[in-house]
Amino acid sequence: MKQLLISGIIALTLLPACTEKPAEAEKKSDTADTCKTKPLNPNGDSELAILMREMTAWTENTQQFIGQHTEMPANFPENFKTLTTAKATDSTLDRVTFNVYANSWLMAYEKFKRSDATDRAQNFNNIVNACAGCHGQFCQGPLKRINKMRVEEK
Ligand code: HEC
Repeated sequence: MKQLLISGIIALTLLPACTEKPAEAEKKSDTADTCKTKPLNPNGDSELAILMREMTAWTENTQQFIGQHTEMPANFPENFKTLTTAKATDSTLDRVTFNVYANSWLMAYEKFKRSDATDRAQNFNNIVNACAGCHGQFCQGPLKRINKMRVEEK
């Protein structure tokens, strides 16, 4: 039973729909071989995978900004709204459940925009919690990275 569980977990982390680039590949992309790197899935990267990379970059940049500044950041990409419609690698993805998580992420994002100095950190962490919530349900691969995105709440 335990073995079954472990192989289940391994199989899950290997799911092509949500594999994160291994650190190795990421390092390589800084070298001259860059042009040869092929997309993670043979049909090219899905709209959702590309959006996820943008959301990841925004979240990590904003985390850093909050650590260094007392004011609110000014960069709030509009295209994150396409979270509910972007095509996923996995065409069998349960869109009904997905959209429940997607809408709660978008609500957290909107709330963070309206934050002030007093609730900024907490509202930002709620965005990260919403990332983690959906990933707990759909693809655990990026969770480790997501769990490092929270900021200190004072
Ligand atoms: C509503 C569900 C949902 C939310 C919210 C969500 N994700 Fe994702 N994420 C997914 C799914 C599904 C994939 C797989 C995308 C695909 O391959 O089509 C994914 C893929 C990823 C990937 C891998 C992208 C790649 O290169 O293939 C990363 C990293 C990621 N998400 C990070 C995040 C971060 C950070 C947040 C919050 C800012 C977040 N996710 C919010 C569902 C979600």
